[in-house]
Amino acid sequence: MTDDLEAVYPTREDVWNARSARTAFPIPLVEGARTAASFFSAAFYGRNDVVYLDEVGVPHIMLVDIKAEQLAAMAAIYPGVTETHAEDAFAVAERMRRENRGFDVVITDPWAEGAWPVVTQHFATFAALTRRCWVTGVMADDFAEAGVPVTLEGVQSWLDAQGHSEFVAAWLKLRNSANGAYWLGLCRRRSRRDRMLARLLRPAKLLGRTRAKEVSR
Ligand SMILES: C[S@@+](CC[C@H](N)C(=O)[O-])C[C@H]1O[C@@H](n2cnc3c(N)ncnc32)[C@H](O)[C@@H]1O
Repeated sequence: MTDDLEAVYPTREDVWNARSARTAFPIPLVEGARTAASFFSAAFYGRNDVVYLDEVGVPHIMLVDIKAEQLAAMAAIYPGVTETHAEDAFAVAERMRRENRGFDVVITDPWAEGAWPVVTQHFATFAALTRRCWVTGVMADDFAEAGVPVTLEGVQSWLDAQGHSEFVAAWLKLRNSANGAYWLGLCRRRSRRDRMLARLLRPAKLLGRTRAKEVSR
C-alpha cells in the first residue's frame, strides 16, 4: 500500500521542486501563522500554496478541495496538515463561518473562473474566517472589467468602496504572465496597541522558532 502511494503520488521534494510563482507567493504574510486554511488546495498537491505554508512551518493546516485522493496524499506529504474536507469549498467555508472558526491565514486558489466570485459573492465568508491575512488568486481581466486598476492602490480603493476597509491590500504580484493571474494578499488592519504588542513580542517569537529548529535537527 505504501509502495503504491509512493509510486503514484509526489513527495514533498517533488512538489517543492515544482513550486510555482516562486517570488509571487506572499511568504511574509504567512510567516509566523499558527493556523492556515487552504481552500481549493489539491490539483497540484499544493505546489501553488500549501508547499509554502509547509516551508515556513505552519503547524496546523486545513485543506479543502473536491479531490479526495489528492487531499489524502497531501495529508501524507505535509506533517502540518491536521484536517481535510473533500467537499465544496463554499459550503465548507459557510459552515465554518457559522461555527465561528478562524485561521491566522486563509488561502483561496480557485480556477480562473472562480477567482472573481470568491472576492465578490463570497468575500464576507472568507473574510470572516481570516484572523490575519487572506491570500487569494485574482485575474487581471476581472479587475479590468470592473474598472479596477491592478495596483495595490487600485485594489484598496475598490475594497474601501465595497465597504471592506477592515482589510489592507498588502500584496499584489503577477504569478502567471500567460493568463494574468496574480496573488493578492489582504491583511486585517491592526490597532496601534496590536502593533506595539507585536513589536514587543517579536524577539520572543524569533527565539522560540530558533529553538524549535534546533530541536528538530
Ligand atoms: C487552481 S487549482 C488549485 C491548485 C492548488 N492550490 C495546488 O497548489 O495544487 C483549483 C482547485 O479547485 C478545486 N475545486 C474546483 N471547484 C471546487 C469546489 N467547488 N470546491 C472545492 N474545490 C474545488 C479543483 O479540484 C482544483 O484542485
